[in-house]
Amino acid sequence: MTPTWKDKLAAEIPPALGLEIDQYETDLLLRRQGKIDEKVFMEARLRRGVYGQRYDSGQRHDGKKTQTLRYPSGDLTKGPGILWDHPGMQRIKIPYGGLNPRQLEVLADLAEEYSDGILHVTTRQDIQLHFVHIEDTPAIFRRLAAVGITTREACGNSVRNVTGCPLAGVCRDEAFDVTPYAKACSRFLLGHKDTQNFGRKFKIAFSGCAQHPCGLARMHDLGAVARIRDGRRGFELYVGGGLGPVPYQAKLFAEFVPEEELLPLAQAVSRIFGRLGEKKNRNTARLKFLVNKLGLEEFRRLVLEERRALPPDPAWTAFLGELEAAAEKPSKPAAPLNGQPRRPSFDAWFRTNVYRQRQPGYAAVTVTLPLGDFTSRQARALADLARAYTPGTLRLTVDQNILLRWVSDADLPALHAGLEDAGLGQPGAGTVVDVTACPGTDTCKLGISSSRGLAGVLRERLAARAASMDEAVRNLTIKVSGCFNSCGQHHVADLGFYGVSRKKGNYTVPHFQVLVGARRQENASAYGLALIAIPSKRIPEVVDRLAEAYLRQRAAGESFSGWVQRIGKSQVRALIEDLAEVPPYEADRSFYSDWHDPRTYTVSDMGVGECAGEVVTPLDFGLAAAEREAFEAQVALDKGDPVRAAETALRAMLRAARELVASQLPEVSEDPAEVVREFRARFYDTKLFFDPFVGGKFAQHLFQAVEEPAGTLAPDAARRRVEEAQLFIEAAHACRTRMAQAAGKGHA
Ligand code: HEM
Ligand code: SF4
Repeated sequence: MTPTWKDKLAAEIPPALGLEIDQYETDLLLRRQGKIDEKVFMEARLRRGVYGQRYDSGQRHDGKKTQTLRYPSGDLTKGPGILWDHPGMQRIKIPYGGLNPRQLEVLADLAEEYSDGILHVTTRQDIQLHFVHIEDTPAIFRRLAAVGITTREACGNSVRNVTGCPLAGVCRDEAFDVTPYAKACSRFLLGHKDTQNFGRKFKIAFSGCAQHPCGLARMHDLGAVARIRDGRRGFELYVGGGLGPVPYQAKLFAEFVPEEELLPLAQAVSRIFGRLGEKKNRNTARLKFLVNKLGLEEFRRLVLEERRALPPDPAWTAFLGELEAAAEKPSKPAAPLNGQPRRPSFDAWFRTNVYRQRQPGYAAVTVTLPLGDFTSRQARALADLARAYTPGTLRLTVDQNILLRWVSDADLPALHAGLEDAGLGQPGAGTVVDVTACPGTDTCKLGISSSRGLAGVLRERLAARAASMDEAVRNLTIKVSGCFNSCGQHHVADLGFYGVSRKKGNYTVPHFQVLVGARRQENASAYGLALIAIPSKRIPEVVDRLAEAYLRQRAAGESFSGWVQRIGKSQVRALIEDLAEVPPYEADRSFYSDWHDPRTYTVSDMGVGECAGEVVTPLDFGLAAAEREAFEAQVALDKGDPVRAAETALRAMLRAARELVASQLPEVSEDPAEVVREFRARFYDTKLFFDPFVGGKFAQHLFQAVEEPAGTLAPDAARRRVEEAQLFIEAAHACRTRMAQAAGKGHA
């Protein structure tokens, strides 16, 4: 009999891990036999990083060309009702993004044998394989376990991948190398009994310095920023940050936590989160809501009290004795870059993709991966290059690239040639060309617009102009998410986009909300806010216009966010407002399909209807007015008037609610109490307003806002209300689409 992977790898898999995988395999068997409930199995598979996936289009776009997939696309392959065992996505946790060549080769094998041959780097330093069948997951886990990788807690309500600056250890500006701390934290919390009872995911990030955005520590549930005080190592600790529909900036928990206190405090925070965090309502279950509810002072008091009561654990400090031994060492002596033969494309690549390490004579090289993708063949080539020119140290980056560290300067031309031969020599790392995108409608069930399609188009257009681009524009960042969940981290880019849809007559048109105003420096210290929704097909023009205006109007040395702040968001919006117009279907059909998907755009499984008549209903006008009001709220916020911002945001929500009610009850008055009462009865109690994934969450934003007078809100709460109003209006648009479908006359 042919040996199974279980037989073959028995000696190489740590026994505890092997046992866990056996248990998972049993769960899988029981699920197949219908002996365990889907819900129970779902948490078990999600905890191992096995996601359901959308593959309705039967195709996947890689930014250049569309691949046709082997899987069929039938009625059951899309949306929340997707079957449990359909091919899905496997997320593979790579702590702080650190990989060695052997691990990369195994990942290449898995991509080739079980997936579509593509490895995808995520915005949190994970690897994802798409189109994986659930039956293959135990073999995948075993093959990964044999090279020291676990997918445990890669998803689900658990401590997700612990991220860290990819330059840690070689960075010129860091306080110290955070790698061993990120590694110890990841090991310590993995499977820990105090991290098994969360109501939601928990994300941790490490940054080596306070000023740069590489670690993005301040948008995490727990963020640790390296600091040295009186010659001692420690961390500035942040809690309660997170992106998602309504993003929260993390709050400063402690200015200095000595290194030996890092793990006990992380444990104490986990215990408090596990004990007091929301469990029933997923929408308010992240740590950010708990910190907000308790207040920072009370949260801190509880955590410190918990910390004092913890029985000491040697694992808290064991790793500190091994810091020196664990530090990376170069495999080759440093030698200068000095006349070695080089290809003509070397200089452009060198300018953007080579970072001079703190250690003289060594460089860290970014391998640009368009849209975070590379093939199994490229992965093997990269493993060979890493062996030849580095001590085997690779890091995945939050910008969806790969970093090769400890390259002797003299080897740079040869490494560049090797990368180019493997199709990995593209320049432009960290520039505007290097667009970040979440999986979006290609593979994500929640996607609304094609984030990867847009990112691919932007990348191509910008790359063609890169050589003549002004430095200021070249340094802009662009991040795209397919929906408001912000997996593409659109809040922390100079230009952020997230997918929404809008009705035009009986058609639905893919759009993106345009966000500006983020401040990336200091670990993402301010988030962007939505300006206006623009049809997907006009987003490249948005980028051109905003980049040109910035270039023309910027003061010397002024950043993009500085320019936005100086001229004001109304001015920025005015620059692109005319692009929001959608031409009629008959005039230009291209607006009615998404990037790289020739089918007429839909947001549901409904087929294409017959009627193409142009109908602009009072509801459409009303929702547009509500949207304008939500934007005015944002302007008030920028002008430093949080009370007016909160009031205007509530007015915008009330207007959207009233417009929905009026579509059923034209005589409804403007009285807020009546609007809320009717909205509740007609749209909330009936679940008509419910989002298929998050249920009644967005309606709660309205109910809560009418209860809380604007004058009592803190400025950051007012900011969130503005964000909530935007989401409420998006939900009203979606509800309007569903109503049209139910009436049987729409293209969905
Ligand atoms: C309710 C559903 C979801 C929510 C609320 C959500 C939310 C988020 C957020 C907020 C982030 C990144 C920012 C952060 O770290 O705070 C993120 C990351 C990510 N999400 Fe989602 N997401 C959801 C579902 C999905 C699905 C279905 C997929 C794909 C099939 C997906 C793919 C990703 C990817 C690739 C990342 C990058 C991060 C990583 O490697 O952990 N997400 N998600
Ligand atoms: S942002 Fe939306 S579309 Fe993109 S991966 Fe997240 S949930 Fe999916």
